[in-house]
Amino acid sequence: MKIRDSGMPDESYWESLFNVPLILSRLGIERFHDVAELGCGYGTFSIPIAAAISGTLYTFDVEPGMLARTRERGAGLPIVCEHRDIMQEGFGVSADAVLLFNVLHCERPVELLRHATNALYIGGEVLVIHWRYAETPRGPSLDIRPRPEQIIAWAADADLNLIGDVIDLPPWHYGLRFGLVE
Ligand SMILES: C[S@@+](CC[C@H](N)C(=O)[O-])C[C@H]1O[C@@H](n2cnc3c(N)ncnc32)[C@H](O)[C@@H]1O
Repeated sequence: MKIRDSGMPDESYWESLFNVPLILSRLGIERFHDVAELGCGYGTFSIPIAAAISGTLYTFDVEPGMLARTRERGAGLPIVCEHRDIMQEGFGVSADAVLLFNVLHCERPVELLRHATNALYIGGEVLVIHWRYAETPRGPSLDIRPRPEQIIAWAADADLNLIGDVIDLPPWHYGLRFGLVE
């Protein structure tokens, strides 16, 4: 099932809303070997991550157009880009980091976080970014937009502990890192 409010605007507009190098640096993406991502979208994060990590980026989407664009941009990089409904099927791979970027306003967030938990190698991390709970130029309506504390509580229900603090990702986002409960 496609996550609510997960349609995408024009590519160049979407990519003007993020400082991608800053986000990836603050999340420490280079530390990871294999990475799995829900929702490649235009490949906004998939492409630089595949170029930065030592292993493979596995990315999944339900929109054929998004998969085609990411495959086109990722030619020559270590990316596996497949059609998969993660809400229904889970990730189907294991990884050192699982990315839930701009998707935790979904209908069943604990279920999605549980899929991420199940895909993690021991010692791996679930990395989340989401729109600040404030007026932003894009993002889901505040009615369904989670605050960081809400995501931390959902994550605990999926056996994930917050690592460190809430990470500021200007101009419009925040980030969270989670590890498996021991
Ligand atoms: C808001 S976009 C975010 C894309 C990317 N993570 C980013 O931040 O640039 C959400 C993406 O998830 C995809 N998506 C929605 N529901 C999905 C599902 N159940 N399984 C896999 N992908 C899904 C959408 O098609 C869309 O490309």
